[in-house]
Amino acid sequence: MLPAAIANMSPVFLKGKTPLDFGKCFKDGSRILGDGKTIEGTLGGTLIGGLAGLIQLTIIHFLGLGSSMWGFGPPGVSILIVFTIAFGALFGDLLGSFLKRRLKFKRGAKFPVMDQYDLVIGVMILLFLFPYSRPWALDQLIFDWHWISLLTIIVFTYLIHRISNIIGYLIGVKKVPW
Ligand code: CTP
Ligand code: MG
Repeated sequence: MLPAAIANMSPVFLKGKTPLDFGKCFKDGSRILGDGKTIEGTLGGTLIGGLAGLIQLTIIHFLGLGSSMWGFGPPGVSILIVFTIAFGALFGDLLGSFLKRRLKFKRGAKFPVMDQYDLVIGVMILLFLFPYSRPWALDQLIFDWHWISLLTIIVFTYLIHRISNIIGYLIGVKKVPW
């Protein structure tokens, strides 16, 4: 989840200017995603989160710890998986904003549960969707009591989300503490 967490918090520092929806509205008259979702933030966040994942893989490899990922197909697959995790976090965030706009919530408005879990939802959707990551995701998050890992992710996400947003608010990069 580290690539996801890093991808999720990167956009706020990137100060993107180009809205992903190019300022367009949905058929309900509200913005598709809103000005809070930019091309720079989405691409940059995916890149930074994915690079963090590559660093993790490299460290694990050179420490000889082995990686659960190397067992699933050629090395390229693990690279694909860490970038999928990074993008998945932002994909979930986009999904959250799409829903917020449909519910007529203004940019930055509080959206309980989705605010905390959008990244987990996005990562899980993509990991279980793509054939290259599905076997790995099932092995790591479902089979053999590994659903405990999934449960741990759910609990820790809530705590980490609260803490990082409060820090972001205190250092002035976020306008609201959620
Ligand atoms: N951001 C971005 N691109 C993304 C996600 C976030 O550029 N894909 C940047 C925006 O500057 C955004 C900030 O990070 O304002 C904080 O992200 P977030 O809290 O997710 O967006 P909000 O502004 O709160 O908008 P929304 O109501 O749609 O969640
Ligand atoms: Mg927000």
